[in-house]
Amino acid sequence: MDFSQRIIAWQHQHGRHNLPWQTSRDPYRIWISEIMLQQTQVGTVIPYFERFIGRFPTIVQLARASEEEVLTYWAGLGYYARGRNLHRAAKIVVEQHAGVFPSAIDDILSLPGIGRSTAAAISAFAFGQRHAILDGNVKRVFARAFAIDGWTSDKKVEDRLWQLSESLLPRTGIEAYTQALMDLGAMVCTRSKPKCNQCPFVGDCMALRDNRVVELPVPRPRKPLPERSATLLVIRHGHDVLLKKRPAPGIWGGLWSLPEAEGELNAACMQLTGQAPTSIEKLAGFRHTFTHFHLAVQPIMLTLKKLPDITAEPGSIWMEINDAIEAAIPKPVKSILQVAAKC
Ligand code: ADE
Repeated sequence: MDFSQRIIAWQHQHGRHNLPWQTSRDPYRIWISEIMLQQTQVGTVIPYFERFIGRFPTIVQLARASEEEVLTYWAGLGYYARGRNLHRAAKIVVEQHAGVFPSAIDDILSLPGIGRSTAAAISAFAFGQRHAILDGNVKRVFARAFAIDGWTSDKKVEDRLWQLSESLLPRTGIEAYTQALMDLGAMVCTRSKPKCNQCPFVGDCMALRDNRVVELPVPRPRKPLPERSATLLVIRHGHDVLLKKRPAPGIWGGLWSLPEAEGELNAACMQLTGQAPTSIEKLAGFRHTFTHFHLAVQPIMLTLKKLPDITAEPGSIWMEINDAIEAAIPKPVKSILQVAAKC
C-alpha cells in the first residue's frame, strides 16, 4: 500500500471524525474552522467555533455584522487580522458571488486571508476537489517521512514539498486523505516526542530509518549576524598603556578596555591625551563574534612622547602593559595587548 492509502486507512481507524465542522459539507463552516485552526489548536477552537457559528450562522449574516462585533467573537483567539479578513471575505462573497461561497479554487484563493494550503483544504473538505495542502504540520510529516533536508520554508525546499504533496494525492478519498495528513501531524508525527510506534508509515519513514527523527525538519536558520567594526587604540608611553572603563550598558560593560577611536586618529589621540602621537602602527585586525553581532576589530598602536596627566579624567588609567594583560579586560583586548607588548 502506498503512502496515501496507508494514512487513509489509519485515519478511518484512529483519526478525528466528530469535529463540529466535520458534520456537514457547508463551505462556510469549513472555511471558518480552517481559518480558526491556522494558528490555534483544535481543543481551543471548538468553543469559539460554536459561538461564532451560533451568532453568524450564514455568510450573509457575517457580512452584515459590524467588524467590531465580528472581532468581539474572535477575541481570545489572537491574530486579529484573521477575524478582519473573514469579515472582508464575507462581504466579497456577498457582493461578487451572490452570497454563495465559491467552489473554484482560484476564487477561493483570491479571498483575503486564504493562502494556497487553506484554499486546498476548504476545496477538499467542502467540494471533494483534489488539491494538495502544505501547512506546518504537513511539512513536518513530509520532511520526516521522505528525509527532506533544509528549512521547510526555504523557497527551494518548499517548492519541493509542494511537488511531493501534489504527487502523493490519492485518486479518490481526498477528504479522508487531507484530514489524515492533518491528524497524523497533530496526533502522531508531533514536533517533540513523536509516537512513531503508532504511525502507519513506521516501516518506511526515512527519518526513522536513518535515526534522524529528532533533527528533521531542520529548524529555521538563525539570521546572519550584523557586522560592526571598531578601531581600538593601544596608546603607549614607554611600557605604559592607556585603558578606559567601558560604560555599563553595552559590550564589555564595566570592564577595562582600550579606548575606541571614531574618526581621524590624530584627532582621537588629541582628545584622549592632549597630544598628537609620534608614531602610528596598524596591528593585525580580527573578527570577534558576540551573541548579536560580529565585530571587526582593527587595533592601532600610537606612541606618545610624554606621559599625559589624565588623573583628573575618571574612567581612564595608565597601566604597565604586563599588568594590564592580567587585569579585568575582555579576551580580545588581552590578545591585542599581548601582541603590542612584543612590539
Ligand atoms: N488544522 C487545520 N485544519 C484542520 C482540520 N480540518 N482538522 C484538524 N486540524 C486542522
